[in-house]
Amino acid sequence: MNQVLEETGWTTVCTIGDIVPEAGVCALVDGEQVAVFRVGGELYAIDNVDPCSGAAVLSRGLVGSLGERVVVASPIHKQHFDLRTGECLETPRHAVRTWRVRRQGDGVQVGRGGA
Ligand code: FES
Repeated sequence: MNQVLEETGWTTVCTIGDIVPEAGVCALVDGEQVAVFRVGGELYAIDNVDPCSGAAVLSRGLVGSLGERVVVASPIHKQHFDLRTGECLETPRHAVRTWRVRRQGDGVQVGRGGA
């Protein structure tokens, strides 16, 4: 009853200081694991589960860039996912979902529905 309701659709998952620059963290949003990354001052969010292995590991992958694309490499098979689109670069028909992500003050918020 005394709960402060947030704007519909957004979940505060951590503070900006919880995410080491050029790395990711795992967050739980509506019971689903989301990998949230802070790269070059931008925030990105994709599913945390690697479609290849089924393991929830993408938040622990190495981030970097391939050409114009900002990517994370899966720790398991090293395939790359575009953090903006979720596309797997090695096999484009594999993709993970993207999530909306934004900064509100010190808070990092994730929302459903792709960026
Ligand atoms: S997710 Fe396995 S190669 Fe793309």
